[in-house]
Formats: sequence, structure tokens, C-alpha cells
Amino acid sequence: MAEVNENIQHRQKLWGGRFTEENNPLFVRFNESLSVDYRLLPHDIKATKAFTQALSEIAVLSEKELHKLHQALDEIEKETRENPSLIQQAIYDGVEDVHTFVEQSLVDKIGELAYKANTGRSRNEQVSCATRLWVLEHIDILLHLTKALQNALVEQAQENIDVVVMGYTHLQQAQPITWGHYFLSFYEMFKRDCARLLDVKKRVNISPLGMGAIAGNSWNLDRKKMAENLGFADIVQNSLDAVSDRDYIIELLANISLIGVHLSRFAEDMIIYSSSEFNLVEMSDLVATGSSLMPQKKNPDAMELIRGKAGRLNGYLIALLTTVKGLPSGYNKDLQEDKEALFLAVDSVSNMIKVTTITVQSLTIKRNKNYDHSLCVATELADYLARKGIPFRKAHHIVGQLTAYALACSKSLSQLSLGEFRQFSAEIKEDVYPILTIDSAINSKTAIGGTAVANVALAIAEINRDIENGM
Ligand code: ARG
Repeated sequence: MAEVNENIQHRQKLWGGRFTEENNPLFVRFNESLSVDYRLLPHDIKATKAFTQALSEIAVLSEKELHKLHQALDEIEKETRENPSLIQQAIYDGVEDVHTFVEQSLVDKIGELAYKANTGRSRNEQVSCATRLWVLEHIDILLHLTKALQNALVEQAQENIDVVVMGYTHLQQAQPITWGHYFLSFYEMFKRDCARLLDVKKRVNISPLGMGAIAGNSWNLDRKKMAENLGFADIVQNSLDAVSDRDYIIELLANISLIGVHLSRFAEDMIIYSSSEFNLVEMSDLVATGSSLMPQKKNPDAMELIRGKAGRLNGYLIALLTTVKGLPSGYNKDLQEDKEALFLAVDSVSNMIKVTTITVQSLTIKRNKNYDHSLCVATELADYLARKGIPFRKAHHIVGQLTAYALACSKSLSQLSLGEFRQFSAEIKEDVYPILTIDSAINSKTAIGGTAVANVALAIAEINRDIENGM
């Protein structure tokens, strides 16, 4: 809670008429949301301008009054932008929320006329309208940041298109792939994340303005025109739904959680891959730290924080789902808790994406990894036998036995002699050796989506075409 000003100036509340006593100062602190929702100020002002415009069209406000109101609203926006301490002071003075702040600032500027601005309008529709505008703006920012990360991934894929790296399943060596293929796998995850953001945008992009506190608006406002003025694609259809719908925030938080999961999985790879035991990558000094005691250390703090913060993103989603799940129909004050989760999640994931982008851009791939002694071409040998007509399951068994043999004599598969091979299958001939190379294993995966270098080159070309077309 913000600091308690024991001498709160009891400014007129938006709802004070039926009250005879002032609020307890501690409750004023408990109840306020200005310290969080001040970030909606430009959006609330934008919505208030559209609403008063609509009021002027039904002659509640004259042209002159409208002009005066809009001028004052512009001034409030400019003054608070230039002097954020005005908000600090208002929080200290116990102003309830951003909507109250705008209305009281209007009163300070233009007196009585300010009281007309909210004719027929409730904060319930106001908060949803301003939040929707904020969310729309930030979905675009998230899309932009994610695209930058995708570009960094594609650049690394291009640079390391044929550099070999082990592919792991169960974190055990599985089959060789290329770094090009690896980076494109994350490109695909973020592509889905962008598609999800664009999808949720459709459900955010509808205006609740003109829905009142719960039952609707009786002033014959042109809701569609108001929505259009605000840049919304459509309007919310039902007033009871409008004032308590927070699905669009929950959906965004779910999308953010999933972005966090993808970032965290990448981070986990980088943490493991940069350890001396794996020694596959080196994190740049830009995003690593040292130890205060052990001079030799280079720690992947950036990646660890991303893994850590991803957990908190899930927390914001669960927090809001839990807040909403038990609410009776209509607006309830519990909903005020939505914005803290929303703002923290968007801020945090934005920083996570930015830091990951820098990490990807500055990452060094160790190019000289030698997998000659790995058994990771065993599947190639099973395929070889299957091509000779042995049913795959049998071929698999034979190669299993060969693997056990190779392990027992500390050899790689390609180091076995033809004589040794033929103890296990007469089908194995001299032509087996070329297929037991890492290169051959990689470049045989030519079906679309496989790791063959030519495939990855094609995928990159397609992605670059999409990028050029602004997709
Ligand atoms: N600060 C409130 C919120 O964020 C605004 C809506 C207040 N409405 C009300 N009926 N008290 O939800």
C-alpha cells in the first residue's frame, strides 16, 4: 500500500452523496488503484474524448462545451506526462483511481462543466474501455518484440546452417541435427505465439463504451460511432457481460505464459549447453556475470532469470483466473486486481523477450564439436538394414546388439570392421560406411521439416519471404 497521509484532503468522491462519514485513511489506501492504473491515463482520456463527443451529438454538451472539455483533457494528459509527480501527489492525497483523477483534474480546470462529462457513463465501462485500449497497444508492442527475436533466431540459423549439434531426447544423445535446424524450431514456437496474439486481439478489439454500470445506456448514444472513433473494430454486445468480461486479459496472460514457457525452454538449453560438460555455446559478456568468489566463473544469469521469471508469468495467469472464477454476475471490485497482473506480466515478458534477443544475437556457437565417437548414427544403420529388406523392428534389434558390442570394445559404429559387422548381419556390405557419417545422417533427412541442410535453407528462404511481405 502507498504511504498513508494522515491528513488526507478529503476531496469530493465520485460517489459521496449518500455518505455522512469519511473513509478510514487506511481503507482509502487499500481501496485505491491509482498507484497501478495511472498507466491507463492516456487511454482513459482518449475514451473520455470519444464519450463526450457522443454526448455532444445528442446535445448533452454544446460544441463550445465539448471544445472546452477536450482542451482540458489534452492539457491534463500533457501536464501529467511532463510532470509525473502530479500523480504521486494525487495518490498521496487519496485519489481513488485514474478515472477519478481525470474527472477531478477536469473539475480543477473547468469547474462545473466537468460534472457533465460522465453523463450516463460508469467507471465499470470506463475501466474496461481504457484497459482494452491499453491491451491493444501492448499486443502490438509484444508482436514487434517477438518479431525482432524471430529475426535474431533466423540470422543465427543462417549463420550456422550446416554446423552440427547433437539432437537430444530425454537429454540423451539422439540424432545429429544442425544449429540452423535448432534455431528454426524456436522460430516456429514464436510464430505460433504471434498468431495467438493476433487472435486474442480480435476479442480485445471491441468497445464496451455506452454499456453503463450493468444495464446499458438510456441516452440513445451511437455506440458504433463511438467505437469507430476509438479505432475499435466492433462493439461488445451485452452490457452485463461488458462490465465484468476479463476474458481478453486472461487470454493475453495465457499467451504471455506460453511465450514465457518458450523463452524458458530456450534459456534452459543455453544454461545446459554453455556448461563445460556440454561446451556447445558461449554466452556473450553482454548477458553473463561472474562470481564474487570464484574468478574463473561465467554464469548465465540472463537465462536463469528468464527461466525464473517465466514461473511468475504463470502466477499472474492463475491469479486472475482465480479472482474471476467465483464472481457473481456484474462488476465486482475484485476485478480491480486485474491490472497489476496485466501490467506486471506485459512488462516482464517484454523484458524477457528483449534480453533473449540480445542473448541470441551475441551467442557464440562452438563449431568444432566432434561427434565421431557418438553412437548417434545407430538409426542410420537400422534404416540401412531396412532398405536391404530386413523389417525395421528386426533391423532395430540387430543394431541394438551391434551398439552393445561397439560399447563393449569402446569403438564407434563406423570404427567396426566389415568382419565385425557381418557377425551380426550378412546384409552389411562395404557401402555401409558412407551412411555412418554425421553429414550423411543429417542430409538424409530430406522430408519437409527435417534437418537436411537443403531443407533448412529452403525454410529460411520462405521465412525471409514472409518477413519481406510483412508477415
Ligand atoms: N478502479 C476500478 C477498477 O479498476 C474502476 C471501476 C470502479 N467501479 C466501481 N463500481 N467501483 O476496477
